[in-house]
Amino acid sequence: MHDERKLMLVLDDIHKSFGDFEAVRGVSADIKEGELITFLGPSGCGKTTLLRIISGLTTPNSGKIILDGQVINDITPEKRGIQMCFQNYALFPHLTVSGNIRYGPEVQKWEKNRIEERVEEMLHLVRLDGLGDRRIDELSGGQQQRVALARALALEPKVLLLDEPLSNLDANLRLQMRDMLREIQSRVNITTVFVTHDQVEAMTISDRLIIMREGVVEQVGPPVAIYENPDNEFIASFIGYVNILKGEVKSISKDSKSAIVSTELGDLEILASKKDIKVGWRVYLIVRPETVIIGSPEERTDINIVKGTIRSIMYAGSTVKYVADIEGKDLIIDQYDPATQGMHGMGDKVMVTIPRNVHVLK
Ligand SMILES: Nc1ncnc2c1ncn2[C@@H]1O[C@H](COP(=O)(O)OP(=O)(O)O)[C@@H](O)[C@H]1O
Ligand SMILES: [Mg+2]
Repeated sequence: MHDERKLMLVLDDIHKSFGDFEAVRGVSADIKEGELITFLGPSGCGKTTLLRIISGLTTPNSGKIILDGQVINDITPEKRGIQMCFQNYALFPHLTVSGNIRYGPEVQKWEKNRIEERVEEMLHLVRLDGLGDRRIDELSGGQQQRVALARALALEPKVLLLDEPLSNLDANLRLQMRDMLREIQSRVNITTVFVTHDQVEAMTISDRLIIMREGVVEQVGPPVAIYENPDNEFIASFIGYVNILKGEVKSISKDSKSAIVSTELGDLEILASKKDIKVGWRVYLIVRPETVIIGSPEERTDINIVKGTIRSIMYAGSTVKYVADIEGKDLIIDQYDPATQGMHGMGDKVMVTIPRNVHVLK
């Protein structure tokens, strides 16, 4: 499928050092109009620095920032048409809700009627109708977050930057706000760069992810593509709980459809079609916990069945995450609907089936 949307924001080989330390090491990205793209990576990998560079608060050592076809490196932050929501909201505490939203348009000397219209429109957009006269300290965390969003969107920016916007909220509110953010983002169709270190948050909210590590882009793609085909071990383990099995390719079937890999858990058969592997190669098998079957499968195939002992149980209602000890190696297994399936207990001996369809890394 060819994406016809125009490029709204391009980062071209951005570098940034603080003293001797290079925080951003040649980051490039193509961000399309209306897209919600997320820089995802561990704390300290350079996400905030990148957002500050895009917004103009930080000057890169080299590299170009191109907004809607125009190089904006030399344009001041207020003139860029880019708005940033900070992690701590950075609202004006002495102003009301409306005062905060009105601030930008006033500085830009919008006509009075247009400002008032825009304030009402923004209050409605973030579902704060009627709360315009409240003081900031009279609002909950979630409401403050919505004011910050309204204030950023009031100026009709071309790009919205969100730096870990949900990290200060408690778990339930975080889910609600995530849905609301996504809903508003697609309703106004605003190109958005989101930053987080939370994999689940990133996976659920984004059109595409840019996985970062130590100032470098590791992989770019839609969440499902990265989840199913991580380019390396770091990404595989960062993007979710995974089992990484070390192994060596022992044989490949005549029709090239399957292969036997000897691993720490014994010999496993894997599907090999479309996979570029050769006998003798050392590989990693990426086994997702939700694809592992615990308990004897109804249709016994005797393929890829290993014996283990339950060593840890994390119960979360609709799912259970087990760690089973198999030949001294830990295997993470997700079981859905344990109420119906029957839960296993600590120390239980179990039969575990490893799927044949696993991701292979060289
Ligand atoms: N103003 C600064 N001076 C010195 N070092 C900084 C400065 N800003 C960020 N850094 C360093 O650059 C790295 C990346 O920081 P940051 O972009 O804030 O990471 P992230 O947002 O991904 O957690 C960190 O090691 C941080 O300590
Ligand atoms: Mg940060």
